[in-house]
Amino acid sequence: MTQGPLGYQIHPWELRWRGLSISQLERTESTFALSNGHIGIRGTLEEGEPVGLPGTYLNGFYENHELPYAEAGYGYPESGQTVVNVTDGKIIRLLIEDEPLDMRYGTARHHERVLDFRAGTLSRVTEWESPTGRVVRLKSTRLVSFTQRAIAAIRYEVEPIDGQSMQVVAQSDLLANEPIEADRSGDPRVAAALQAPLVGQFAQAEGYRAVLVHQTRNSGLRVAAAMDHEIDVQDGLRTRVHAEEDLGRLTAAAEVAADGKLVITKYLAYGWSAQRSAPALRSQVEAALAGAHQTGWDALLAEQREYLDNFWASADVEIEGDPELQQALRFALFHVLQAGARGETRAIAGKGLTGPGYDGHAFWDTETFVLPLLTYTVPDSARDALRWRHATLPLARERAIQLGQAGAAFPWRSINGAECSAYWPAGTAAFHVSADIADAVARYYNATLDHDFDAECGTEILVETARLWNSLGHHDQHGGFRIDGVTGPDEYSAIVDNNVYTNLMAQRNLREAADACDRNPDRAKALDVTADEVASWRSAADKMLIPYDDDLGVHPQAEGFTEHLDWDFAGTPEEKYPLLLHFPYFDIYRKQVVKQADLVLAMFLRGDAFTPEQKLRNFDYYEARTVRDSSLSACTQAVLAAEVGHLDLAYDYLAEAALTDLHDLHNNVRNGLHMASLAGAWSSAVSGFGGMRDYGGTISFAPRLPAALSGMTFRMVYRGTHFKVSVSRTEATYELLSGAELETTHHGEKLTISEKPVSLAIPELEDRTPPRQPPGREPARRVPLDGNTEANTPR
Ligand code: BGC
Repeated sequence: MTQGPLGYQIHPWELRWRGLSISQLERTESTFALSNGHIGIRGTLEEGEPVGLPGTYLNGFYENHELPYAEAGYGYPESGQTVVNVTDGKIIRLLIEDEPLDMRYGTARHHERVLDFRAGTLSRVTEWESPTGRVVRLKSTRLVSFTQRAIAAIRYEVEPIDGQSMQVVAQSDLLANEPIEADRSGDPRVAAALQAPLVGQFAQAEGYRAVLVHQTRNSGLRVAAAMDHEIDVQDGLRTRVHAEEDLGRLTAAAEVAADGKLVITKYLAYGWSAQRSAPALRSQVEAALAGAHQTGWDALLAEQREYLDNFWASADVEIEGDPELQQALRFALFHVLQAGARGETRAIAGKGLTGPGYDGHAFWDTETFVLPLLTYTVPDSARDALRWRHATLPLARERAIQLGQAGAAFPWRSINGAECSAYWPAGTAAFHVSADIADAVARYYNATLDHDFDAECGTEILVETARLWNSLGHHDQHGGFRIDGVTGPDEYSAIVDNNVYTNLMAQRNLREAADACDRNPDRAKALDVTADEVASWRSAADKMLIPYDDDLGVHPQAEGFTEHLDWDFAGTPEEKYPLLLHFPYFDIYRKQVVKQADLVLAMFLRGDAFTPEQKLRNFDYYEARTVRDSSLSACTQAVLAAEVGHLDLAYDYLAEAALTDLHDLHNNVRNGLHMASLAGAWSSAVSGFGGMRDYGGTISFAPRLPAALSGMTFRMVYRGTHFKVSVSRTEATYELLSGAELETTHHGEKLTISEKPVSLAIPELEDRTPPRQPPGREPARRVPLDGNTEANTPR
């Protein structure tokens, strides 16, 4: 096994960290987080301290706070939402012969933690010598269950390894209002809302069980947490259980024989509700706990593995030639699954449930970056995330009315569906989020033909977002349809006219809405859609203005962009990035500098609207102006670099996207993982080197590998058909795994994916001169490990 950067060891199916590094705890708490999309627990040590940032999150559970404005303005959202660290159930404190096990003291003779992508567990082995010389081995394994949504569980074992018996006292806690670092956001109002946010409503303990119910002060949401235990030790066990407002505690004291051990299995159940009473929630978690207890630890582990076996069977990506990238891709897939698996009509936040970053908000990151992966691997999870958007339509309609528009305006950032962005140029004005949601709806429908979803939810989302575009845009005197005064994906430009990305996505939105109404006439009628309205959508789409700079032969990102002054890249030293922290927005906005893929993203999601020559020229033009101050950029640049034939550059970008969190490239992994970048790594592989595109229900492939990789195999599901594509340097093989045969194309050549594998040659590629990036912003040149050497050092 090889040692990668920052202490992770390279292994195809695990993320392993050996040794104790207290300064790295915050980072590993994020990378070692467990979640099922409903519950998220950070990878803190069981004994509670030392700790970087404790965190237990429930999807959708938040506290309100006022939003800060120096100057108020019409339509500014008044209330913000922040994810709350709920009752912590992962704590098991230990006293060894009078000495608390605290790894800041004594000696950690051995310490390692392993996140297992197939087992779905985080495990730990620690051999600790206390300051007084007693030595114990501690083993723990935890899981957040994929199969029992309300359940987490921990198996905890303590054994003396110094040849003598010892007295061991374990305190297994439920702890509410855990002290956390006062002010992570820099805003005292947010800090105040998060200081002891939970008010106790019920506490009870009995036998080996305890339950606590709390309510937030402002949002009025209620949370219940319960724990139960099994304890196994030879003899001398004494226990006591106890509950007070913010603490439930089971204390177990035992004299453990020299060759014996104490084994505690802790089951945890969580539930929350905006409506259910404290007794109802208490019953809910007690019932969930009884279910988990009845299943038992071994069966929970077995269910977890079976769930993951099924996932990997339809989602795995195998990479030959770069073991660290292999690990990073599986890490990415695992965490994206964790973020979305059991969300069930809740959002998928930008950080999933791995940390408090971005206040726990969901952005367009979900629909544009995360849902493609889920749509083609675990489509039900994509559907559930879209059902969440559908459930927030009433708020999106209200927002559109407030903004003087028709239809529905989805929020830039939110937990419950209401807009929480306090910065309108990159919030309210980023209307593209509504087209991104429509795009995800259309993609999901095309990939599944899920007629029920289409009729119940999809059509309504498409119709209401089409209405938004029809009212936001207008036909100019020449008949062209303009969308003025909006912000595209690139947050270094704002309030622009005819952003190509926005216009092309709106165009698709308008057409998809019209098609959905044709498919679902009853639904359309119920939504008061008239034939004239559908005709107006089609006409707006047909007349959509897409600016083009004839002199340069490229698309300006938005009208006038290519006429702006160039940014002085040569005069911008590395420490001045990210630019938004060092330069005024007014100056950034009026120059040709791009934070993140915008026109390049349009060329991916609406690749059908560009010629190959345009793609090549546009790509080169924007490469020279894109600084990647957002983690959402590298993955898209990877996809387009691969398409236009810059394969080695695509490889560099794929590595950057996949290693964003493992190498902590943005120096903020302590706040949670970057779900968009992780999911984007999958797109870089499958849509980049696999060349997978899905325009309007026609799936196609154009695989091609970079020089460093000798092979790549990926699996997908499309319209119920599971299949795999294996790519070598010279050919690609398509093979059906289950389901009906599927028509597709390989570099434009038709083929049928069937049980008999079909291998087709990969056409030769012309040599291309690689484009330039702004000086100092080039991606790190990816050099795969040879098995023994150190990996690339983080940027
Ligand atoms: C990016 C946005 C993104 C947000 C959350 C920002 O830095 O510019 O596009 O939605 O982060 O990931």
